[in-house]
This record gives sequence, C-alpha cells and structure tokens, in this order.
Amino acid sequence: MPLSNERRRACVTAVAAALPERRVTNQELAHQVDTTDEWIVSRTGIRERRLVEPGTGLSALAIPAARRCLEKAGVAAADLDGIIVATISGDQIMPAVANLVQHALGANNAWGYDLLNACNGFVAALSTATCFIEAGRAERILVIGGDVMSSIVDWKDRNTCVLFGDGCGAVLVEAAAPGSGNGVVGFELHSDGGKGDDLSLPCAGSLKPPAWAKGHFIHQNGRVVFQNAVRRMTEVVDSLMGAYSLTKDDIDLLVPHQANLRIIEPIAERIGLPMDKVVINIDRLANTTAATIPLALADAEADGRLKVGTRVMLVAFGGGLTWGACYLRWGR
Ligand code: COA
Repeated sequence: MPLSNERRRACVTAVAAALPERRVTNQELAHQVDTTDEWIVSRTGIRERRLVEPGTGLSALAIPAARRCLEKAGVAAADLDGIIVATISGDQIMPAVANLVQHALGANNAWGYDLLNACNGFVAALSTATCFIEAGRAERILVIGGDVMSSIVDWKDRNTCVLFGDGCGAVLVEAAAPGSGNGVVGFELHSDGGKGDDLSLPCAGSLKPPAWAKGHFIHQNGRVVFQNAVRRMTEVVDSLMGAYSLTKDDIDLLVPHQANLRIIEPIAERIGLPMDKVVINIDRLANTTAATIPLALADAEADGRLKVGTRVMLVAFGGGLTWGACYLRWGR
C-alpha cells in the first residue's frame, strides 16, 4: 500500500541490545573442529562471536534487552499492549519467551507470543507489530529478535558451527498520529516452503520429536542457501523500492541480516550503496539469526549513524525459506 499521510503510523522509537560476555574467536574454534581463522574470515567475514554459557535460555538475554529498550524510551512496562519475540531457540516450546519477558517486566497489560520465522523473524515480527498499530489494535508493542544458536548447532560440524552466535535485540514500536513524518513506510514478506529442507532444524517438532537427538541440530545446504539469499534479498529490496518509488538516495542505511559478508556485499552493490551505508556486525557477532538486525540497529544508533529521521532499509533471509524487507524512517 503506498505511503499515505492519512494512516496511523507505527514508529520505531527505541532499540537496545543484550549480548553474552563470552567472546569466542575463530582460533578457539579451530581447536574444536577442522577449520582455520583464514577459511572462516575469507568465506564469511566472521572473526569472532559471543556465546552464552551452556544451559542459558534466550530469556536471559531477552529480558535485559527489553528492560533497556523501555528505559531508553521512557515507557513503563504497564503501558505495553503486546510483546512479540522472533526466535527459533526459545527457552522452551511452551511457555513462549514473550510470556517470560512479560512476567519479568511486569507488563501486566500485554499479550505476548513467539514468532517462528528463522533469520527473517525480526522483519516478520516488526511487520506484524506494524499491522496491529496501523489497525488501531495496539499503541505500543515490544518487538524482540534473539537466538541462542549455540544450543542448536552441532559443535562437531564445521559446516555450521563456525557460522553462528548468540544475541538479542529489542525495539519499541509505538503509534503516531496520521501525518507524522517518521515510521514504517512499507514492508514485504515472502516464503518458499519447497526449499525448506535446505535450511532446517528437523527434530524439534511433532514429526520427529526432540528425542531423536542428532536431528536436533541445524542442517543446511550452504550453497543453495547462499545463492537463494543473494537472489531473494536483492529481489525483495528491488520490489519494495519499486512499490514506494524509492531510489538509492532514499536509503541512508541498509541493515541486512548478517549470514555472510559475501551475501551482503552484492546486495549493497546491486542497490548502488557504498559499504559505509551498510551496517555490519557479522565480523564480531557471527549470525545471531533473529537478532542480527536489532543488534545492528543498536550498533548504528550507538555510533551515531541512526537518528530520528534516518531512512532505513531492513532486509532478511532465512529458513523456510523465508525473506522480507521493511523500509522505515527511524523515530517518531
Ligand atoms: N572450515 C574449513 N573448511 C570448511 C568449513 C570450515 N568451517 N566448512 C566447510 N568447509 C569445507 C567444505 O567441507 C568444502 O570442502 P570440500 O570441497 O572438500 O567438500 C569446502 O570447505 C568448500 O565448501 P563450500 O560450500 O564451497 O564453501 P562456500 O564458499 O560455499 O562457503 C558457506 C560455505 C556455508 C559459508 C556458504 O555457503 C554460506 O554462507 N551459505 C549460506 C549460509 C547461511 O546464510 N546460513 C544461514 C541462512 S540465514
């Protein structure tokens, strides 16, 4: 739907991050699996990642990220209408991490649920919150993206274990009156279930219950995922730009999902954006799945690149396969 000043706007008014203390370098992983720092850096751009201590659930990151986000916005937990947590590695299947966050914050007027959309989860959750707010069904929603990938990767599989990290980010989405300048302008979401097996976590559901231990790890066909990621992320950005008649000059910052630097660079090149307009955290944090985008937003805010009015393109790709993009003007 084209941007209209008549609509209520969903504005992203604050962002906060929570990362584990423990840094793990590529050299340390090379003691565990047959790999090298040179291979990981040259193939992916990753130099290190943050990992939780084993036995730590996502809520241990999601709760502090949520608290900091509300503090920054100056909003009381009781004023939240909803909490959406995008994740594929919640503490448990049930209760949802959103319910744990709701309880810990004392957000007694908020509903909450987890949204399962892999690396596209944050874009999907932000789009969902936008719909609630534009429809007048909510005033304030906390959108959290986080994953404890260390709990679902096989630490003996060099094809996957070097790629991921743990982390969590939260944003506050608030309603603004029609006509306000900033806010979410548009978004697009897609999926292709036909390629679901190319990036999967087979044994956590009803078909193959978790007791089938080995299948409880991420499995991926790296090359297929790589090719589809470049193609689909480029396509969805092109399509969203077309829908809102945007040119590269309308994008101040590109905040892409961080799966591989070699996936991000061709997307920036295709749009015609220099890399100084692209937010990168994969070198320090690896692929934190649903957390990559909110963590990158928190970095960009901290280094002064993200301010009220900054025009941001978010784009993500992940298991499903699923992908999506969202264009917004930061702040209210
Ligand atoms: N260290 C050393 N060698 C490794 C390795 C590691 N950590 N992981 C894989 N290799 C080996 C492979 O076994 C393969 O060896 P072979 O040729 O003897 O079979 C070789 O490196 C080359 O593998 P290839 O698949 O060609 O590498 P690549 O350049 O495609 O990079 C990925 C592999 C996984 C980094 C890349 O395909 C990728 O990023 N895919 C997308 C991943 C992704 O985005 N996942 C999350 C989606 S949101």
